[in-house]
Amino acid sequence: MKASAFGKVILLGEHAVVYGQPAIAAGISPGVTAWCAERDGRSTELSVDPWGAHVRCGPGAAREEPHAQLQEAFAALVANLQAEGARVQAHAHLPPGGGLGSSAALGVAVAKALAPTADPARIDAAVAVFEAVFHGNASGIDAAVAARGGIQYFRKTDGRIALDPIRPRTPLSVCIGHSGQGASTRSMVEGVARQRERNPAATERTLTAIGELVKTARFAIEEGDLEGLGKLLDLNQILLASLMVSTPELERMCQLARAAGALGAKLTGAGGGGAVIALVAASCHEPVLAAWQEAGFRGFVAEIS
Ligand code: PMV
Repeated sequence: MKASAFGKVILLGEHAVVYGQPAIAAGISPGVTAWCAERDGRSTELSVDPWGAHVRCGPGAAREEPHAQLQEAFAALVANLQAEGARVQAHAHLPPGGGLGSSAALGVAVAKALAPTADPARIDAAVAVFEAVFHGNASGIDAAVAARGGIQYFRKTDGRIALDPIRPRTPLSVCIGHSGQGASTRSMVEGVARQRERNPAATERTLTAIGELVKTARFAIEEGDLEGLGKLLDLNQILLASLMVSTPELERMCQLARAAGALGAKLTGAGGGGAVIALVAASCHEPVLAAWQEAGFRGFVAEIS
């Protein structure tokens, strides 16, 4: 049986969410599907198409570059679920390192394929160890949305995750564009942590301000105030840039989107590369996608409801 998981976009609140602020994320599909190709108890292996990744774990398994992180994460997940001795095949519809939650979606789909009868809490726990390898100090937002989809208001306080589904008054049309540059979530999260150590008061103010935008954005989504939501995305982008996680390409993509009529635009995920989201009025995605394409950036549209 195939197991599947959602990709995700963080609408607002990335990075601040690591420090206890709320964030809003939405599932996008297709994300990742995975299935157990064989369970003969002999070898424990994972193949991921179209990433061309094939990793093995267990006694005597050599480190497999360039997928050593995936190998380490898979080994941790298998150990957590005590599910040694299976060959898992996965298909990812998302680019790796693209800020679209590909690693969490992979973790959820693989965990469900290995342990189809496990309850959600057990899957969450297994995916947390998988994600920790990619993210370091991960908030868990990607994994929570990968498993559930929908629009989620997420908060983690004192290690406890609270999830609150948000019902939008009108569906959200979001253009998602890729900068063409990969980024390591772990190093971006570590960069913000260093900034917080060096300049605690200013960084804390920025993180708190992002949290305030998120709280307001929740009402905007529930009220169907797309113009207001767009402005909040723009403000969130300014604060993310002040955390040094934006890049010239991401800024350019945001500007192109706004000039093409987007209501607001920002990077999504860890930044440093990866993806941008642009909120558009219903059926107004073509000019944004065309502007990106002309500048050499690939994009697609996701309807979020
Ligand atoms: O790069 P992504 O899509 O995995 O998103 C990371 C989101 C962060 O807030 C930067 C980190 C986290 O664990 O919440």
